[in-house]
Amino acid sequence: MNTVMELIAAELKKAFADCGYDEEYAKVTISNRPDLCEYQCNGAMAAAKAYKKAPFMIADEVVAKLSDHAMFESIESVKPGFINMILGKEFLAKYLDEMAATDKFGYASKEEAKTIIVDFGGANAAKPLHVGHLRSAVIGESVKRISKFAGNKVIGDVHLGDWGLQMGLIIEELRDRKPELPYFDESFTGEYPAEAPFTISELEEIYPAASAKSKEDAAFAERAHEATLKLQSGDPACTAIWKHIMGVSKKDLKKNYDNLNVSFDLWKGESDAQPYIPDMVQKMIDDGLAYESQGAMVVDIQEESDTKELPPCIVRKSDGAALYATSDLATLVEREQDFQPDAYIYVVDKRQELHFTQVFRVAKKAGIVKPDADMTFLGFGTMNGKDGKPFKTRSGGVMRLENLIADIDEAVYNKIIENRSMTEEEAKATSKIVGLAALKYGDLSNQASKDYVFDIERFSSFEGNTGPYILYTIVRIKSILNKYLENGGTMDNLSMNPAGGAGEKNLELVLTKFTDVFAAAYAEKAPHKICQYIYEVSNSFNGFYHDTKILAETNEDLKKGYIALISLTKAVLEQCIDLLAIECPDRM
Ligand code: ARG
Repeated sequence: MNTVMELIAAELKKAFADCGYDEEYAKVTISNRPDLCEYQCNGAMAAAKAYKKAPFMIADEVVAKLSDHAMFESIESVKPGFINMILGKEFLAKYLDEMAATDKFGYASKEEAKTIIVDFGGANAAKPLHVGHLRSAVIGESVKRISKFAGNKVIGDVHLGDWGLQMGLIIEELRDRKPELPYFDESFTGEYPAEAPFTISELEEIYPAASAKSKEDAAFAERAHEATLKLQSGDPACTAIWKHIMGVSKKDLKKNYDNLNVSFDLWKGESDAQPYIPDMVQKMIDDGLAYESQGAMVVDIQEESDTKELPPCIVRKSDGAALYATSDLATLVEREQDFQPDAYIYVVDKRQELHFTQVFRVAKKAGIVKPDADMTFLGFGTMNGKDGKPFKTRSGGVMRLENLIADIDEAVYNKIIENRSMTEEEAKATSKIVGLAALKYGDLSNQASKDYVFDIERFSSFEGNTGPYILYTIVRIKSILNKYLENGGTMDNLSMNPAGGAGEKNLELVLTKFTDVFAAAYAEKAPHKICQYIYEVSNSFNGFYHDTKILAETNEDLKKGYIALISLTKAVLEQCIDLLAIECPDRM
């Protein structure tokens, strides 16, 4: 379906051409003077220079061609040469009926479907999820859904950190705690136990303890380092413990991501990329791309257009070990082999930007990805506390994600129970949904690259630009529709009214913008644009609701028109929150 802007532009193009002007000038924008008109075209000013004519004369001629057109309630030329337009009410109502009846509200991608890998989540196995991982999960899930809605094949990969020093630390801590385990008996030849020697709560306690110990005990730190190397070179005992760590940890991570309503198509990790490393590095050496520098193998990435100096990418350390960049490059080798993606989107803390610049450039230079592969680093900012510093617990520690979620659920629960007649059980269940929405919307409504302040009071408020406000609007519409049905109303043969009041017209106009907004959010990988839009839709709906008696309307046709309008409003809002991976309760 064409957007309203495209339809207007098509008419204006014809009119410009009919008057002998290049149709290039028929550019339409949303009016920046909503008090005067809804859409405008400033093309007559630009055409004036080319045709050496007064702009208002051109505008007058164009407007004369369109003055009777059904699309417009009014189209006028205003000095010095603006063309101001107000849409016809009948036209608008028909447009919305068509939108309501069309898949995706008429959105259709103009490009060919792509295979896109979204690398997000990035949790580290055996370490609890903390708020730093929240942003990646929340933004990544939304970017994934937006890319899918646009018609692409999208593969989300959690890309676990599962191959680092934390493994050696856990192995050695386990040795100190339970030396009797067969993994630590060098003469053991049987099969290692199938059951893990720890539970998730033990594992969560083991890692921080080991990490603290390694900072004080140099010998322990050395042992952990060696255990890590042993694991990385395939030692059976270390591998067996590693498998247990992964089993226990993945199960717990899945539960946590499920609670966030975030899911992944692939549960791969850095470890999966390791087998690809030797050949990949060797090829870079054979091709003359990687060269030796102070014992390490490096690849230059500097380009002429760079304004600052960028360090070469180290692909192999002097002791032969692989690095973070090597793992990411080898992961690309694996992904190319398995999926041949057209595009990659990495949703990672923006402090890792240099790392990804290095990885992307080496990947292209080495021919690991296609020369035209679309590689995006979607770097996000930090979630800060009210003091402007990275968010911490009251005692100054790193906040665990579970605790953060519990805090916001509680804030919402207190609001719900305060003034509503709900059983405690329903209030608890509702707070979970609304609390998560508060948290996600608080995050997604900011441009991803910006830092933001986590403000539980503001995020959980039912008023203002918040998740709960948006949900409250949807719940309000649901309740009107339910009452309408209870009173014998039907949803058959609904069609929009030519707008009566200003509130109704405004809501109708806002709804027509869905496709434009979605297209911009997709092109810019910007969930915050969806947030801006649903805030506008919600405000417009609430304005309309405020000055319209919907259910008390005695003219049945009019009432049905209202029902059609608010049904579409609800559908658009629900579609948009789904793109943000936010859910809505039935009551709140
Ligand atoms: N595990 C990393 C961290 O916690 C994030 C991984 C990001 N993704 C990647 N492909 N490097 O910082």
